[in-house]
Amino acid sequence: NTNVLFLVAAYLVGSIPFGLILAKTFADVDIKSAGSKSIGATNVLRVVKETNPSLAKKLGIATVILDALKGTVVILIAMAYGVSDSTLWGIAVLSVLGHCYSIYLGLEGGKGVATGLGVYIALIPIATLIGAAVWIICAKVLKISSLSSLLGLTAVIISASFINDGLNVGSNVPMYLIAFIIYYKHIPNIVRLIKGQEGKVI
Ligand code: G3P
Repeated sequence: NTNVLFLVAAYLVGSIPFGLILAKTFADVDIKSAGSKSIGATNVLRVVKETNPSLAKKLGIATVILDALKGTVVILIAMAYGVSDSTLWGIAVLSVLGHCYSIYLGLEGGKGVATGLGVYIALIPIATLIGAAVWIICAKVLKISSLSSLLGLTAVIISASFINDGLNVGSNVPMYLIAFIIYYKHIPNIVRLIKGQEGKVI
């Protein structure tokens, strides 16, 4: 049935490692074996910067956009098909799971920030814009990507608890589940932040 097809598609599309593909194609580097080993935009920027700073910025931005869109697009198509709100949230969770545990990379992957942004913006737009603003301000001031992501994500969750924003499936569980996956993938970053060892990248 349509719901199952959308859920499977969300995971398969979410699994596409755009950062890895872009860095390999345009800079001939394997970001899975360098830097934080994550496939996300931050690691693309970090690793490609060593050899080509201007290319690094472009590839980093392209990675954020594509990683976000792979979440948004499946949700928008599913919305056009009129699937239920709870299925839309299921699609959102599976998109982020795909990015973080990619079927194409032996269940390794990224940390879910850009894809989380892409699915949250479609489902809880106001809270997500608040979170994005927090990310931008933190990134400008602190210059640490992971800390900015963690604070931006926390701002989304807190805002969504107060604002009646976008889709309401009668529970915030899927929204928290997505946040949990992203926090969980950031444990190594959190350990480095506590030890004062997390580098500045932005
Ligand atoms: O968006 C991912 C970011 O929060 C952390 O990435 O590569 O610094 O672990 P990284």
